[in-house]
Amino acid sequence: MKFLTRNTLSLLAFVAPVLGQVLSTNCTSSNAAAQVCAELQSDLGSAIVEASGAEYDATSQGTWSLFNSLDRPTCIVYPRTASHVQLTMASIFQHKSHYAVQAGAHSPMIGWNSINDGVLISFANMTSTSYNPVTETVTVQPGVHWGDAMAAVDAFGVSVLGGRASDIGTGLLLGGGISFASPLYGWSADSIKEMDVVLVTGQFVTANATNAHADLFRALKGGANRFGIVTRYELYAIHTGTKEDKNWFGGVIVYPGSSSVALSNASARYIREVTDPKAGLVVILNTVNLTAVDANTVYLFYNGASLPPGIFGDFLSIPNTSQTLSPLSYYDISNLISGSARGNGQQFGASSWVGDEGTFLAGYNHLVNFTQTFPADLIASYLIISPIPQSQWAATAARGPNAIGDPGVAYATINFNLIYPAGVTVRPQDVDDGFKLLLSQTPPSPGLPLYVNECDASQDVFATYPDFAALQETYAKYDPLRFNVEHTVGPIGL
Ligand SMILES: Cc1cc2nc3c(=O)[nH]c(=O)nc-3n(C[C@H](O)[C@H](O)[C@H](O)COP(=O)(O)OP(=O)(O)OC[C@H]3O[C@@H](n4cnc5c(N)ncnc54)[C@H](O)[C@@H]3O)c2cc1C
Ligand SMILES: *[C@@H]1O[C@H](CO)[C@@H](O)[C@H](O)[C@H]1NC(C)=O
Ligand SMILES: *[C@@H]1O[C@H](CO)[C@@H](O)[C@H](O)[C@H]1NC(C)=O
Ligand SMILES: *[C@@H]1O[C@H](CO)[C@@H](O)[C@H](O)[C@H]1NC(C)=O
Ligand SMILES: *[C@@H]1O[C@H](CO)[C@@H](O)[C@H](O)[C@H]1NC(C)=O
Ligand SMILES: *[C@@H]1O[C@H](CO)[C@@H](O)[C@H](O)[C@H]1NC(C)=O
Ligand SMILES: *[C@@H]1O[C@H](CO)[C@@H](O)[C@H](O)[C@H]1NC(C)=O
Ligand SMILES: *[C@@H]1O[C@H](CO)[C@@H](O)[C@H](O)[C@H]1NC(C)=O
Repeated sequence: MKFLTRNTLSLLAFVAPVLGQVLSTNCTSSNAAAQVCAELQSDLGSAIVEASGAEYDATSQGTWSLFNSLDRPTCIVYPRTASHVQLTMASIFQHKSHYAVQAGAHSPMIGWNSINDGVLISFANMTSTSYNPVTETVTVQPGVHWGDAMAAVDAFGVSVLGGRASDIGTGLLLGGGISFASPLYGWSADSIKEMDVVLVTGQFVTANATNAHADLFRALKGGANRFGIVTRYELYAIHTGTKEDKNWFGGVIVYPGSSSVALSNASARYIREVTDPKAGLVVILNTVNLTAVDANTVYLFYNGASLPPGIFGDFLSIPNTSQTLSPLSYYDISNLISGSARGNGQQFGASSWVGDEGTFLAGYNHLVNFTQTFPADLIASYLIISPIPQSQWAATAARGPNAIGDPGVAYATINFNLIYPAGVTVRPQDVDDGFKLLLSQTPPSPGLPLYVNECDASQDVFATYPDFAALQETYAKYDPLRFNVEHTVGPIGL
C-alpha cells in the first residue's frame, strides 16, 4: 500500500468501501479515518458524511479561534439522530480512528473541536430546543447556541442556564458553565436533569442523577469531552419571565486603563464580601494598552430594580469613560455579549483566586509584565474575573454533585485570554513560553479547582478537582481501554 498517497487512498476509500475493509488489517491513523469515512458515507450518505464542499468548509473553517480553523478533517459527520452518532462512534472505535466533536465551536484549545487526519462530528444539524410545561424542562440538542435556545422558549416565560454570550454552544455544560444567574441557580451543568450519551464503543445510555449511570451523569458535569458524546440535554427551566420582563438592572461600564488597579482591588473585595445571589458580575481588564481610554469593561447586574451601592459601590465610584445601565431581562443580560467575532487566533489560560487584593494585584502585574514583553504579538490580553460565590455551590448541592466540587470558599475563576492579530496562524514560541511562565506565576489559591472551559491545554485541571479520584474511577469504568484519551484531544490528566 506504500505507493498510495493519503489523498489517493481516501479517494479510493470513498468510491470503494470494500478496499477500506481490506486495508483495516494494518492502518496508520489517517488510513483508519479514511476507512471510517468510507464506511459511514456508504451507511449514512453523502449529505451526512462530507469530505469537501461549502458546508465542510463552513464547519472546519468556522471555529471561533483561527488556530482551530486550519485543520482539514478526513470527513465531517453531521448526525441528525443519536443513532447516527452511535454508528459513527462504533466505526471510529472499530478502526481506532482519531476524532473530535464540535458543538458551538468556541473552545480555543487547539484540537479540542477540530482535527486533521481524523473524523469530526459536528452537531450543526442537531439544533432543536423544546419546552415541556408539565415537567418544566427544556430539551436542547447539542448543536444549539444559547441565544437561540433562550429565544426558542422565551414566550413561555422561562429560560435556561447557558452562558453570558449568545453565540456560545452547549459544550459549555460539559465544562461546568457560568451564567449571570449562576449565583442564584448554580453552574449551568447543575441544571441538567438528564442526558443521552453515546459511549466510545457506540453504546447508548441515558444518564441522570438517580439511575444506574448517576456516576457518568456527575462526571459529564465538568469532565469536558472525555466521558462520551451527549446527544440530548434535558434542562430544568428557570422561571425568568420573558424578554419583556425587565426584572434585572445593570449593563456595562467602560473604564480607562488608569483604573486597572482600582478595579482589581474592587474585584477582590467583591469576591470576598458579596454573598447576595441576585448579583452578577464579570470584570474584563485589557493589558495591551495601559493608557487606552476604553481598556477595561465591567458587566454588572442585579436581579432587582437598581444596583445596590452596598454591593457595587466600588465599581460605581471608580471614574468611567462610558456607561449603559438600564432595566433588563434575563434574556437581555445573557445576550448583551455576542462573542461571535471570528478571524483571530485565541488562547485561554485559567486560574482561580480567593478574594484577596494581594493575590489579584500580583496576578494582574504578572499579566501586565507578560503582555508588555510582547507588545507587537497581541491585539488583546485580558484578565477576566468571574465570581463563584458559595450560593452557587449551595444550588449545586440541591441538585446533586458535579465533577468540579465545592472547595468551601467563595472565589473567582480567572481567565487569561490572548487575542493574536488577524492572519497570525501559529503561536510564536517565545509568547508561548512567556504564557507558560505566567501560568506558573499565577497559580490557583490553595485548594481551588481550575475551570476547564477557560484553561490552557497544558493545565492539569482535573487534578485540581477535590474529588479527582471519583472522576478517574468513573473514567476507568466507562472507557476501560482509554480510547477517548488516546484518540481525542482534550483536557489532560485522566
Ligand atoms: C466569547 C466567549 C464567551 C464565553 N462565555 C462563557 C460564559 O459566559 N460562561 C462560561 O461558562 N463559559 C464561557 N465561555 C467558555 C465556553 O464555556 C467554552 O469555550 C465552551 O467549551 C464552549 O462550548 P461550545 O459548544 O461553544 O464549543 P465547542 O468547542 O464546540 O465544544 C467545547 C468542547 O466540548 C466538546 N463537546 C461539545 N459538545 C459535545 C458533546 N455533545 N458531547 C461531547 N463533547 C462535546 C468539544 O469536543 C470541545 O472539546 C466563553 C467562551 C468564549 C469564546
Ligand atoms: C503493519 O505495520 C507494521 C508497522 O508499521 C509493519 O511492520 C508490518 O509489516 C505491517 N503489516 C502489514 C500486513 O502491512
Ligand atoms: C442541515 O440540514 C438541512 C436540511 O434539513 C440541509 O439543507 C443542510 O445542508 C444541513 N446542514 C449541514 C451542516 O449538514
Ligand atoms: C432517572 O431515570 C429513571 C429511569 O427513567 C427515572 O425513574 C428517574 O425518575 C430519573 N431520575 C431523575 C432525577 O430524573
Ligand atoms: C489597592 O489595594 C492595595 C492593597 O490593599 C492598596 O495598597 C492600594 O492602595 C489599592 N489601590 C487602589 C488604586 O485602590
Ligand atoms: C493607547 O490608547 C491611547 C488612548 O486611547 C491612544 O491615544 C494610543 O494611541 C493607544 N496606543 C496604542 C499603542 O494603541
Ligand atoms: C460614569 O461617569 C459619568 C461621567 O463622569 C458619571 O456621571 C457617572 O455617574 C459615572 N457612572 C458610574 C456608574 O460610575
Ligand atoms: C516578564 O515576562 C518576561 C517574558 O515572559 C520574563 O522573561 C520575565 O522574567 C518576566 N518578569 C517577571 C518579573 O516576571
